[in-house]
Amino acid sequence: MSERPPRTRRWAGTARRARPAPSQDPIAALVQLQRRHIERSSPLYAAVLDAVLADVAAGGVCRALLEPHRGDPFGSALILRFLGAAHRLVLSGSAPDLAAHYPSAGGTPGAHLGTTFLATVSREAEAIAQGLHVPVQTNEPGRSAALLGGYLAVAGRRPRLPLRVLEVGASAGLNLRWDRFRYEAAPSAFGPAESPVRFVEPFAGPPPHLPASVEVESRRGCDPNPIDATTEQGEQLLRSFVWPDQTDRLLRLAAAIEVARSVPAIVDRANAATWVAEQLEERRPGVATVVVHSVVLQYLDEPERARLRNTIVDAGHRATADAPLAWLTMEPAGDHAEVHLTVWPARAGRRPGAGSGGEGRLLATSAYHGPPVRWVG
Ligand SMILES: C[S@@+](CC[C@H](N)C(=O)[O-])C[C@H]1O[C@@H](n2cnc3c(N)ncnc32)[C@H](O)[C@@H]1O
Repeated sequence: MSERPPRTRRWAGTARRARPAPSQDPIAALVQLQRRHIERSSPLYAAVLDAVLADVAAGGVCRALLEPHRGDPFGSALILRFLGAAHRLVLSGSAPDLAAHYPSAGGTPGAHLGTTFLATVSREAEAIAQGLHVPVQTNEPGRSAALLGGYLAVAGRRPRLPLRVLEVGASAGLNLRWDRFRYEAAPSAFGPAESPVRFVEPFAGPPPHLPASVEVESRRGCDPNPIDATTEQGEQLLRSFVWPDQTDRLLRLAAAIEVARSVPAIVDRANAATWVAEQLEERRPGVATVVVHSVVLQYLDEPERARLRNTIVDAGHRATADAPLAWLTMEPAGDHAEVHLTVWPARAGRRPGAGSGGEGRLLATSAYHGPPVRWVG
């Protein structure tokens, strides 16, 4: 590898995520931090985490379950794994009393939500302990709305080439079907009108130019734990990582799974850096290769992040006008996400992106799960 990874905004996004102060009780600090992240988007989980926090302070069952994971990597999102494990019990029918409070199971949050949550965790402690080993798998189709403008920017370059999409950390690969979703920004729209996944005015401010169509030559992804969303178990796993009171997201997830049933895409079981190196080894003239990832970098350790970047940048240096390479990312940057695009080869007179030799720019900012998307590209 020829280039050391310079510190760019792309990587800084993960580093800027607040971590608990070392002096604090680490478990309580993680719960508080997660509560702060979630409180505006999920009042239900905010109430649940209040109960968890009180239990952790009192040395109860939540403390007993979380304590052995005190040394887990920060980016592995321990508290989301904990909430997901409990949610799976609800979705599988094993916790009907808690299900009565969870809209994802037809319930309504009530006054006894917190105590019911703690009682369920206590009763099902063994299942929760097992569930804590399941990594976070939030495959969020809403992120396609944030990434859309990046794909369209690559597709709009000359010469016009079909897109070869390579998604790192694809989970179930739902976002590999981004072109089969419908995006409406009146008076324009992109994507099949009959698509069950429909974004209505996802842009806060002017949208990117929406062409009539884009050709996707191939769609392939990798993930260390790929999910087959078309199975009942796979669908339940994906649902378990959506906040139970976010019914719009749950509906969108179900719609994206419907699209996945009819639009094939391969997700290889592999880690980011090795897989990307394999995929980019062969030069593919006649297609524009797009390496894309959303909310993945925090799950990679530093050496793998560096290897991933070096591999992409090295392949970028080998790219040509008839075999261009694009790197499209949507990654957390504080309390929002940033969408960046770097394309090789850079066109004459364009600004090179952060030491990569490619043509790089910030395209958009968005919420972590997609809309509203503020297009700045
Ligand atoms: C928060 S999810 C995001 C999934 C998807 N990119 C999306 O935006 O909907 C993070 C994903 O990164 C994957 N992941 C974790 N470690 C990885 C690695 N070393 N290489 C590739 N993917 C990884 C996880 O399995 C998970 O599917």
